[in-house]
Amino acid sequence: MALAAARARVLRALSPPHPLGQVLVAARRRCSEAGAPGALPPGGYRAWQEQAARDPAGFWADLARGWLRWDSPFHTACQPGRPAGTARWFLGGRLNVSVNCLDQHVEKSPNRVALIWERDEPDTAVHVTYRELLDLTCRLANTLKKYGIQKGDKVAIYMPVSPLSVASMLACARIGAVHSVVFAGFSAESLAGRIVDSGCKAVITYNQGVRGGRIIELKRTVDEAVKNCPSIKHVFVAQRTDNKVQMGDCDIPLEEEMTKAASVCTPESMDSEDMLFMLYTSGSTGKPKGIVHTQAGYLLYAALTHKYVFDYQQGDVFGCVADIGWITGHSYVVYGPLCNGATSVLFESTPLYPDPGRYWEVVQRLKINQFYAAPTAIRLLLNYGEEWVKKYDRSSLKTLGSVGEPINKEAWQWFYQVVGEGRCTLVDTWWQTETGGICIAPRPSEEKAEIVPAMAMRPFFGIVPVLMDENGKVIEGNDVSGALCIAQPWPGMARTIYGDHQRFVDVYFRAYPGYYFTGDGAYRTKQGYYQITGRTDDVINISGHRLGTAEIEDAMADHPEVPETAVIGYPHKIKGEGAFAFVVLKEQVAHVDRVKEELKTIVASKIAKYAVPDHILVVKRLPKTRSGKIMRRLLRKVVTEQSNNMGDVTTLDDPSVVKEILDAYQKYKEKSSS
Ligand code: PRX
Repeated sequence: MALAAARARVLRALSPPHPLGQVLVAARRRCSEAGAPGALPPGGYRAWQEQAARDPAGFWADLARGWLRWDSPFHTACQPGRPAGTARWFLGGRLNVSVNCLDQHVEKSPNRVALIWERDEPDTAVHVTYRELLDLTCRLANTLKKYGIQKGDKVAIYMPVSPLSVASMLACARIGAVHSVVFAGFSAESLAGRIVDSGCKAVITYNQGVRGGRIIELKRTVDEAVKNCPSIKHVFVAQRTDNKVQMGDCDIPLEEEMTKAASVCTPESMDSEDMLFMLYTSGSTGKPKGIVHTQAGYLLYAALTHKYVFDYQQGDVFGCVADIGWITGHSYVVYGPLCNGATSVLFESTPLYPDPGRYWEVVQRLKINQFYAAPTAIRLLLNYGEEWVKKYDRSSLKTLGSVGEPINKEAWQWFYQVVGEGRCTLVDTWWQTETGGICIAPRPSEEKAEIVPAMAMRPFFGIVPVLMDENGKVIEGNDVSGALCIAQPWPGMARTIYGDHQRFVDVYFRAYPGYYFTGDGAYRTKQGYYQITGRTDDVINISGHRLGTAEIEDAMADHPEVPETAVIGYPHKIKGEGAFAFVVLKEQVAHVDRVKEELKTIVASKIAKYAVPDHILVVKRLPKTRSGKIMRRLLRKVVTEQSNNMGDVTTLDDPSVVKEILDAYQKYKEKSSS
């Protein structure tokens, strides 16, 4: 009933209807030009959305047939799974993702540029054609095979963005291995945890990384990590710098081996539902979970959203500045753009290196048409003033995109007016590691006029959002808020958590049976648009990087003098959110400042530098309910200075704790500002 109502709402929002027949003919024609998508016919979006909501299986089947190159066709487009809300897609079909991303384009335009590697060193960009990327990928794939990596094996990739990192992902796809890219800013312990959980047989890394003019000791971190990873048989080491690093028995010089390897590698024919990759992300409890994406559905969804959210046209230069260590890099640096035959920019540097004009200098030099970044970077840059932007020609820009965290109105306006000169479409895109691709975003082209600042607005084709109340009931109507769920499966959604399907079911499908629960809250405006209001759980978002507060607490629990901690997110001007830690020390601890510094070091070494709390406040005790649960809600009120509105504190074990913490916070604030 609720699903029917949600679908009906999508359909109602799409009036007036457009002639479906005409649109689908156009869709098929466009599909048959996979890799060379053309312009949409007038009214196309609405009719597509209508069909996707009415007949999802038929809609996606049509697109999958035309958009992807298959070894053998699928017999069933969508098979609903258990629990309700899950599904498997394109059953019986076989294909290879690297063929879709490389070979099909090499056949038609081998010299088209696939990647532009904007290296950290300014003005030293490297262009890689589709033919060259296929060559790199095949040599790398053959090297992996030579060292025993086979279909189904797991391979960790611990590299910043570069053509070799992309080739590593595609090489895994070519031979049917499963990649697990680990953001190269994660510590040895985080890397080791992910390798052990996924049972990786090999790691691919660089001797060193270079970022913002600084050297990052990647190989050293890998060495430290693999000491505790018995599953690792080989470490493939590529050279990013000329510096020599210690090579051990299981280390293999990657480029040397690739030179010896054959440049042709027969692609493995994969089942649509075989694993393509896993990517670890944080939840509100426990260790990070390995989100699993499969072959065909993920690729199709990444490619379509790349095309239609950004209005990508053939010949455009697509600039997504995300790292491949995050899902944004997977879907909009690698798989979406390459499946569509695009030229994709790999940005290795930082927005401030060598100066705050870097992004816009790159836009000018590489003539970037779509520019996709995180609000954190925009907030950071707006503080440096407009001159850094205006110094450079941005006339190539057509679409701007924002991702990963809420974009505040000021940042949106600056991005739109200053960077985009008020003439580019700006899309605030909402999605998650689990969704595979963008789910809610204003769409460009025909609906330009309707974009509301700082709002994700509309569901993508086939996405049926619903809002739920506290009792698990669907909230109808507009001008309402609730927990954001998605009522109908789509091909890009994650299939499981690696090694723990029950956790997958519990986290995403138990709270609202039959619906995918996102963990976010949303407001549906009077016009029926969606505005994301933030996480409803203990997940925080620091500079667009998702982190469970429990992970930080677990790390700090390792300190022998800190029996208890509670971490919450608080609003941060640049990072969006920062971590604020409340800690209880053992009574006899004298050197409080030393302990605080040690706690920061522990978090950096157990997780990553970005996870280090900005504030650590020592308190005598934490606010707990009679059953011993920490009431983080109260801590949030203290830090956001809403102590006059603490809400219900009657379940507290001892309500006097509130005043105690407020006093400690007040003193801390006075001390910090003096
Ligand atoms: O809370 C939402 C926030 O980021 C979470 C997903 O994080 P992750 O899996 O790391 O993927 C980030 C890149 C897609 C979401 O649950 N989020 C993402 N995009 C937005 C957002 N919050 C507000 N507005 C967005 N546009």
